Amino acid sequence: MFGKRDATTIQRPAPAAAPPVQTPAPAAEQSAARPPAPAKPAASQPKSAPPAAQKPAQKPQKPAERSLPKAARTSGPSEQYYAIKTTIFNALIDTIDLGALAQLDAETAAEEIRDIVTEIISIKNVAMSIAEQEQLLQDICNDVLGYGPLEPLLARDDIADIMVNGAGDVFIEVNGKVERTNIRFRDNGQLMNICQRIVSQVGRRVDEASPICDARLADGSRVNVIAPPLALDGPTLTIRKFKRDKLTLNNLVEFNSITPAGARVLGVIGRSRCNVLISGGTGSGKTTLLNCMTAYIEEDERIVTCEDAAELQLQQPHVVRLETRPPNLEGSGQVTMRDLVKNCLRMRPERIIVGEVRGPEAFDLLQAMNTGHDGSMGTLHANSPREALSRIESMITMGGYNLPSKTIREMISGSIDVVVQAARMRDGTRKITHITEVMGMEGDVIVTQDLFVYEIDGEDADGKITGKHVSTGIARPKFWDRARYYGLERELAAALDESEAG
Ligand SMILES: Nc1ncnc2c1ncn2[C@@H]1O[C@H](COP(=O)(O)OP(=O)(O)O)[C@@H](O)[C@H]1O
Ligand SMILES: [Mg+2]
Repeated sequence: MFGKRDATTIQRPAPAAAPPVQTPAPAAEQSAARPPAPAKPAASQPKSAPPAAQKPAQKPQKPAERSLPKAARTSGPSEQYYAIKTTIFNALIDTIDLGALAQLDAETAAEEIRDIVTEIISIKNVAMSIAEQEQLLQDICNDVLGYGPLEPLLARDDIADIMVNGAGDVFIEVNGKVERTNIRFRDNGQLMNICQRIVSQVGRRVDEASPICDARLADGSRVNVIAPPLALDGPTLTIRKFKRDKLTLNNLVEFNSITPAGARVLGVIGRSRCNVLISGGTGSGKTTLLNCMTAYIEEDERIVTCEDAAELQLQQPHVVRLETRPPNLEGSGQVTMRDLVKNCLRMRPERIIVGEVRGPEAFDLLQAMNTGHDGSMGTLHANSPREALSRIESMITMGGYNLPSKTIREMISGSIDVVVQAARMRDGTRKITHITEVMGMEGDVIVTQDLFVYEIDGEDADGKITGKHVSTGIARPKFWDRARYYGLERELAAALDESEAG
């Protein structure tokens, strides 16, 4: 195949022909230093041997040692491990035709790489246990075919965010807490290459000329890259990992984010087609909550979702998913959230779900809520329900609609039924802090009423926030009639009673 193990048929790709792979040192240079392919056992020339091992590394490294330290995988790879890997990696790059490799499906390509790497290991006489060899093979496959050192993090389901601040600093968020990992990239070049590989999948480019880029991984994770010169310490990559198993409302109850009674009330709100705004800060769980709420939509409803990057996972059969598009490299072709929301009004939706409302599309969403698409939902960035409403107002004002503010407020109070507030507490937990109804107008002011609030008592010995969800004692919310219309008034009464008792 393309793995040219025979010295006479070695094909070396021109550097330009191999964009998807990090080539630590130009292949031609190496071939001058060494005869074709992995021919010489490293043992025969311990001093002059693998020059390649030293080239791409930031720090001076020892020549490849012959065995991999046992600690390599438990406490993070050691310098020696990186040195061996670099040697073998370079020999591999010398040997295979990357262009041809790119044509293969991932499995065959991995097989091919495996074969060659195993051969290089035996030719170079590197002493390794089977387990160490497996680890090395995996790492090298990740480098060549995937996202290199990011792969093990991407494979973990418990990670919410991955934050790479240059080659040497990788942080992750696990269970609401940010922690540092011992993962690192060979150098900023490798990191930049991986960033490039990620964004090129969505037809974009990241370099000095266009150093900011949003993209998405094949699994749906959202990616942002900001590169030098804007990022001072090397390419900076932020990944919001896509959770395959989205949290359900039951999970939120288990995590104490909301009480069982509160969750039941949210269920009634969703099923009785209230128009809902979900408000919260970054990473507070807005999208998660929106996803939970959509579970209460009936199977037979036609739903259109509009998002910047598709994250929602609706289970209903009749869903149309729309996604905005950033401008292309020439600055044209942009499709905004407002374009999508406006368009979806012509698509005969029964419910419109807007991933994140942040601009003039607020107006169109309110109009939709007002004109028969009740049960529509959206999230927005605000720290309290009241702030959420005033943010909507300012989005509309800034959108250039020439409307008196009273009219805008009337429109808001006429369309939004409920605001649900999510918050990320300082101990890393997420809570639903308010379920708030929009009652109407009194004079110029929108009147709201809390049904549930989370009251913080203090902190326990471990620094965990203590507090409780309390019902405000409202027995008949404004959406009572709506609930009754959908045959849910008993459920609503029971849920409200339960929370009173609790
Ligand atoms: N109630 C919760 N308890 C624990 N983790 C949560 C909760 N809600 C959300 N998360 C997690 O927090 C992260 C951010 O949630 P997300 O809904 O994307 O936030 P936002 O949309 O507000 O930025 C996700 O990894 C999600 O799984
Ligand atoms: Mg979100």
